[in-house]
Amino acid sequence: MSPTPTAEAPDRTTDRRRITAPPPRPYHNRLLQGIAEDAVGEVRTRRGRVPLPAGSMAFSARNTHAAVADPLRLLLEHYERFGPVFTIRTLHDPLVWAIGPEANHQILVSEFDAFSWREGRYRDLGPLLGNGMLNIDGAYHRQMRGLMLPAFHREQVASIVDRMVAEGVAAADRLRPGDTIDLYHWTRDLALRIALRALAGIEADSEHEHEAAEAFETALSIHGRTPLLQVLRGPGTPYARAMRARDRLDALILGEIERRRRAGDPGPGVLGMLLEATDGEGEPLPRDAVRDQLVTLLFAGHDTTTATLTFMFYELGRATGARAALEEEIDALLPGRDPVAADLDGKALPVLERTLEETLRRYPPAWIGPRRVLRDVTLAGVPVPAGATLNYSSWATHHLPHLYPDPLAFDPDRFLPDNRAQLPKGAYVPFGGGSRMCLGKRFGETELRALTAILVRRLRLEPDPARTLRITTTPTLGPVGGLRFRVRER
Ligand code: HEM
Repeated sequence: MSPTPTAEAPDRTTDRRRITAPPPRPYHNRLLQGIAEDAVGEVRTRRGRVPLPAGSMAFSARNTHAAVADPLRLLLEHYERFGPVFTIRTLHDPLVWAIGPEANHQILVSEFDAFSWREGRYRDLGPLLGNGMLNIDGAYHRQMRGLMLPAFHREQVASIVDRMVAEGVAAADRLRPGDTIDLYHWTRDLALRIALRALAGIEADSEHEHEAAEAFETALSIHGRTPLLQVLRGPGTPYARAMRARDRLDALILGEIERRRRAGDPGPGVLGMLLEATDGEGEPLPRDAVRDQLVTLLFAGHDTTTATLTFMFYELGRATGARAALEEEIDALLPGRDPVAADLDGKALPVLERTLEETLRRYPPAWIGPRRVLRDVTLAGVPVPAGATLNYSSWATHHLPHLYPDPLAFDPDRFLPDNRAQLPKGAYVPFGGGSRMCLGKRFGETELRALTAILVRRLRLEPDPARTLRITTTPTLGPVGGLRFRVRER
């Protein structure tokens, strides 16, 4: 689906089930120490030979607010004024932003070793995700990726399609014409159920699944608060609520890990792979190391698909031509039946594929790629110093008018093969790219294709005209407070 290079092959020199590299030391979460470290880091960066790229260097309440309320506009404005690489200070921290194909390709592929994930803004997810895939680098990351990669191979994902479809059909068959549903919450519970079963082999009852979905939402909602509220600590703060939600989630995950260990059976899914793995001493991986990877996969595996499906039906409710083309394709190619694995390979249903691609252009859920710069580097012709905190943004890149004319218009035909071939490398990066391309890309795409086909076959979803879409970036894109749709007969 994306023209980005393929994922790195696993490390073949070692047994992929042995994680010999040591994990990084846990993050501390002391507020003042964090601010002090940022300040020292900034002084060091400024003392270096390379200055921070030009931009909004002084603290600005407007920019700090806009960074949460309307980051797309803020970034596109800065791109116009300063070019593809610029700095914006939010609160105390000067953050470098890189927009556009050239910088994206460098960050993801040609200069990827100049960047750390762990020390970028993914650090903010540390309290929930620990040393999961988004928060590690180097050999530990490479080995963990190699360990889990087989779970995301084509055959492996195809083998769970029946399960995905069965879950989707059961949920869709409960919808009745005339109902009003919040599609975001409907999909969120469903996507978490699919992720729990397919990735972790956890057969939670629907009450537990709903509770886990709520816990994720609460734990993550801290990122949508104003920066000041995010950094406060102590009882009653958003941070304290987020930590209580994390504990509720852990009760489910750690309980399952203990249960399997006691039974002496690693069980199915990625969780089984993690439980079978050993460290450099030949000992089973510590419980927390397993937990961190699993929670990261569950987070990445349900939040992104949930938002994408909701945004897609929102746009289809407005772009009736695109909706008609999709309905026609589904009716013609899936007459009276639900999809099987062969229908979901990305080629069998080309209109569906273009509709998804356009949705991920307009609303790439993982809209930033946060990094720390490890050595002085020049991005799109602009020098950036070692030590800088940097984000690339797929969302902003996907709205550059020279790449995507009339960028706010929803038009799946942008991704007709001839149009797509015109896009330069790094112009379309909803799944990142290079050696750290989204691990769950195939899983997520397959699930999205399946759920879309199941819904479109059965009914039509019309966005509630009384609600306007407001987007949160917490930390992935999503509709503020969910999004309501009327269920209509087709
Ligand atoms: C529409 C669906 C999805 C989108 C748009 C998406 C997007 C992304 C992006 C952009 C990145 C790279 C971020 C960066 O460069 O900083 C990423 C990484 C990752 N994603 Fe996804 N993702 C999706 C679904 C999934 C699913 C379903 C899973 C797991 C089942 C998953 C697991 C991961 C993991 C583990 C990484 C880190 C990979 C690594 O560091 O090696 N994602 N995803």
